[in-house]
Amino acid sequence: MTTQNIPSDIRTVVRERYGSIAEKFQPGSQADCCAPSQSSCCGSENEVQMGAIAQLYDDPAAFELPADVTDLSLGCGDPVTLASLEEGQIVLDLGSGGGIDCFLAAKKVGPTGKVIGVDMTPAMIERARANKSKVSAENVEFRLGEIEHLPVADGTVDVIISNCVINLSPDKPQVFREAFRVLRPGGRLAVSDIVTDGDLPDVIKNSLSAWAGCIAGALDVKDYIAAIQQAGFTEVDVTASYWKQEMIEAAVEQFGLDDKEAFKDINPQKSIFSAKITACKPL
Ligand SMILES: C[S@@+](CC[C@H](N)C(=O)[O-])C[C@H]1O[C@@H](n2cnc3c(N)ncnc32)[C@H](O)[C@@H]1O
Repeated sequence: MTTQNIPSDIRTVVRERYGSIAEKFQPGSQADCCAPSQSSCCGSENEVQMGAIAQLYDDPAAFELPADVTDLSLGCGDPVTLASLEEGQIVLDLGSGGGIDCFLAAKKVGPTGKVIGVDMTPAMIERARANKSKVSAENVEFRLGEIEHLPVADGTVDVIISNCVINLSPDKPQVFREAFRVLRPGGRLAVSDIVTDGDLPDVIKNSLSAWAGCIAGALDVKDYIAAIQQAGFTEVDVTASYWKQEMIEAAVEQFGLDDKEAFKDINPQKSIFSAKITACKPL
């Protein structure tokens, strides 16, 4: 496995970035991180917001959630649909943000199931708890904590979901070991995340803001799969989802990377992409 060039203070930078997003957030203004800001798009503000959610979610339930939830969506996929949840299951969301996937999962597992969202950013947990009251999701609980040290007991979870978070971790093998620990035997992982095919240019890899924006921390897909397998998971499956040319271009602007040349060799259909990842904890 190739090692990542990890700045020592990355966790602080990530927490500050998402803390600031949560604190400044106003429903009606789409938050931005992994999907770069769409504020320069044409069309009314409302069209832009709907477009952003519509790009990610197939589940019509996503469009019934209030703007306090949907406009704070910072994901890169739809892990709840990927997880094929059933009634009564216990679900854990790694890096739950404003709670969108927790609320969608809560509807699937119903009142006999439960959803736990874990996030390390206090302001994001506050937003998520306020959103829980707004959507009356009795079967959802938000816990402050790091996904590398989950505040969850061994073998108690049926399905783990996560949406555009593991790429932000400075210790991805530890995230997968923790996921394995808290899942029950036969439990499943269903994750949307950003991965790469090959190395990104150093100017991007060494940018703290590009890490906090879900680019620089993205692992090569082969290393991502190896880390999941080394944690003990089997049946690991990865499907490339999408990454659009305009997202790469917006990222260059958003992260203030002067060296636009660094991006010229990035093939948005291949070099960096959103992936659907599933795996099982053996019985
Ligand atoms: C890109 S946002 C995604 C939020 C949410 N999953 C969604 O789809 O809207 C990343 C979230 O993960 C949280 N996060 C990042 N690294 C984390 C870590 N190591 N442990 C716990 N939470 C983390 C951040 O605070 C932030 O809320």
